[in-house]
Amino acid sequence: MRFVDLINKKVSGQNLTSEEIRFWIEGYVNGSIPDYQVSALLMAIVFRSMDRREILDLTMNMAKSGDMMDLSAIDGVTADKHSTGGVGDKTTLVVGPMAAACGAHLAKMSGRGLGFTGGTIDKLESIDGFHVNLDHKAFIRQVNEIGIAVVGQSGNLVPADKKLYALRDVTGTVSSIPLIASSIMSKKLASGSQVIVLDVKYGSGAFMKTVDQARELADTMIRIGRGAGRKVRAVISSMEEPLGHAIGNALEVREACQALMGNGPDDLMQLCLTLGSLILIECGICSDPDEARERLMESVKSGRALDKLVQMVKAQGGRPEQIYDPSLLPCADHVTSILSPVSGFVHSEDALALGNLAMQLGAGRAKKDDAIMKETGIVLCVKPGDYIEAGSPLAAAHHRLPLPDGWLEECVRAFDIREQREDPHPLIADIL
Ligand code: URA
Repeated sequence: MRFVDLINKKVSGQNLTSEEIRFWIEGYVNGSIPDYQVSALLMAIVFRSMDRREILDLTMNMAKSGDMMDLSAIDGVTADKHSTGGVGDKTTLVVGPMAAACGAHLAKMSGRGLGFTGGTIDKLESIDGFHVNLDHKAFIRQVNEIGIAVVGQSGNLVPADKKLYALRDVTGTVSSIPLIASSIMSKKLASGSQVIVLDVKYGSGAFMKTVDQARELADTMIRIGRGAGRKVRAVISSMEEPLGHAIGNALEVREACQALMGNGPDDLMQLCLTLGSLILIECGICSDPDEARERLMESVKSGRALDKLVQMVKAQGGRPEQIYDPSLLPCADHVTSILSPVSGFVHSEDALALGNLAMQLGAGRAKKDDAIMKETGIVLCVKPGDYIEAGSPLAAAHHRLPLPDGWLEECVRAFDIREQREDPHPLIADIL
């Protein structure tokens, strides 16, 4: 087989056979097919797309390119929750302990943040001593004993995606639904959980800018997962605005702890209850959404969900005092208020702009190996629909270094304040 023939086929809009897709992924991972040829094929896929069978073949070959986690030693059904990424998205830290407190088994591998989007692993590492590297036996034991473990990706999980994603990043080939869906789902399939609940974001702070694109991505991922014999559900949720108030690692852990103490922002809680009820239903713990929501709310009221987070933090080397008293988490030396220049109603808050501004303070990394400053970020004082007086704070910047030139002005521009109030758009656009 010659790789150039595969490129030519895709350029002319033909489908690749299962054998050709296997040849591509095996050859790319073992180094016999060079980056420049794979880049050409990826670009052809961006323009010509792939059909359902091709997407499933691609995903399965990617998933099997490295270790496939065997979670069969975990008692009961295992669940994983995945967000396509966003700004202020700390749902895993809230819904994970809530679902575990209701009897679910969450075996979760998470990633680090890149660009304006955060990563759960970075957030958890803002807890003193918390480590994300558990060997397989310890991971299984922890999920069996506590019901939840969140770890970093193991060394050899989906090497095909590591190479392909790095190449897509520098060749303008990220924005293709077949490529995004196969990248995400290959990691989910290799991670081994039987139930996969996806939070597919749309809006300024997400990969998918519109609800329709997000629905198409969700549909594609659901089909892949079901084709591979897993139970998959998806929520389409808005990332026009950041989720909750806090953006930045320790700040988000603090907000997650407050949510588990019963003081969470409405949008965060609404999303966690929706995702959590899908987890409980698909795991066979509850049979109807109202019952599931009831049990999840009860886990917060009773303190059992917070206790679950504490148990996980203890088991992974972290300081539980920081969960019971989040003011002990790393704090920034400087807090600067961003004041509203006008009075009016908050119409929108640009998630992408705020994510980038938080990154400039050190909360995120522009390049994979950049260091982050755990304590930095932005806390929003208002949400869409709220009224604000001129001179009152829109947000607070938590920073270690002086604010960059023009930062405050740019931050003010991220808020759209209008004279008339309009109802904020719904957080959850669909459940599939
Ligand atoms: N997240 C992934 O893991 N892969 C993509 O292609 C896009 C987002």
